[in-house]
Amino acid sequence: MTVITTHKVRFEPVGVEMEVEEGETVLDAAFRQGISLAHGCKEGQCSSCKSLLLDGDIELLKHSTFALLESERDTGHILLCKTHAYSDVTIELLNFDEDLMRRSIPVKSYDAELVHIEHLTHDIRRLDIEISKPLKFWAGQYVDITIPGGVTRAFSMANPPSDGQKLSFIIKKYPQGAFSAALDDSLKPGDKLTAKGPYGTCFRREGRPGPMLLIGGGSGMSPLRSILMDHLESGEQRPVRFFYGARTQEDLFNLEEFAAIKAKLPDFKFIPALSMADGDAHWAGERGFVHEVLARHLKSENFAGEIDAYSCGPPPMIDAILPVLQMNGVEPDHIYFDKFTPAVR
Ligand SMILES: Cc1cc2nc3c(=O)[nH]c(=O)nc-3n(C[C@H](O)[C@H](O)[C@H](O)COP(=O)(O)OP(=O)(O)OC[C@H]3O[C@@H](n4cnc5c(N)ncnc54)[C@H](O)[C@@H]3O)c2cc1C
Ligand code: FES
Repeated sequence: MTVITTHKVRFEPVGVEMEVEEGETVLDAAFRQGISLAHGCKEGQCSSCKSLLLDGDIELLKHSTFALLESERDTGHILLCKTHAYSDVTIELLNFDEDLMRRSIPVKSYDAELVHIEHLTHDIRRLDIEISKPLKFWAGQYVDITIPGGVTRAFSMANPPSDGQKLSFIIKKYPQGAFSAALDDSLKPGDKLTAKGPYGTCFRREGRPGPMLLIGGGSGMSPLRSILMDHLESGEQRPVRFFYGARTQEDLFNLEEFAAIKAKLPDFKFIPALSMADGDAHWAGERGFVHEVLARHLKSENFAGEIDAYSCGPPPMIDAILPVLQMNGVEPDHIYFDKFTPAVR
């Protein structure tokens, strides 16, 4: 019989305790026990789970030095998604959010079937799957999907949580992408998949009257659409601005859907920003990178109330957006984001 060695983990300053098995990361142990901690990629790439080791023996697994600098390792900082414990440990959470802890949903694995794949643009696909039993999630969260052959990637739901059994995803196709290229090549309706989740902390916070900003690019549309649809279904009223970065008009999609939402939400604007529209005399909308367009709007709009901002997409885009939000008075604890970091191969 295999004996599993477990250790106690105590999180400060919240005083929450849990156990971790040897060989399991602290973050996975938290997911298993329904304890929601700040996280993003789960792969040592994004730094969202950075914390401080106060006491105990640990091993830090291979991670990106962008996520945790060597100088931070020397001062006892760790990444929870890359930490194995070898004794009881005490960890100080640097980013903790009581709302997040209160709303945690235990992570589970679901059998799924591929239902439909649709071309939205030349390099964006919509994937629809049906899972064996409804998944409870918050709008903006993601699951890890495994396809036949074993490739697993993170994808954010594009549908609102009201339909937890039929899940849609907006996926960018990369040349030779182990998952995304298979959408055009080998994957077909009826294929058996696995979806594990829900993960992610960039989910809609409810009951807030101030303006809501949604900022994304490419397949970052996926979780932002889920948040927007969930907001629409909630009946809540607040100003909503959706800034969407793309290169040319060819990269835009779902435009009719946003026009229909505008008719239902009294103070909603979808603001596409094109970064490569110089030669396009027919484009009457915003030009420039999405963070530049965001900066111009934040200066010219006279918003009342505290702003909540949600941003999803490629890491460089998020890195450009965060300072614009902060310089325009959006409080750091009202900024929620998911960096779509590439998977570690
Ligand atoms: C929290 C989270 C949520 C995500 N949600 C979504 C989502 O809703 N929709 C979506 O399309 N993707 C999302 N991603 C990214 C997704 O998980 C995959 O990384 C992406 O689809 C590429 O996987 P692949 O197997 O096709 O490519 P891979 O085989 O992993 O990579 C092939 C090549 O493609 C290029 N590449 C891959 N990913 C990137 C990248 N992010 N930026 C630049 N070049 C890259 C690289 O050159 C790489 O060598 C998310 C990632 C995270 C961490
Ligand atoms: S570095 Fe741990 S969740 Fe991204």
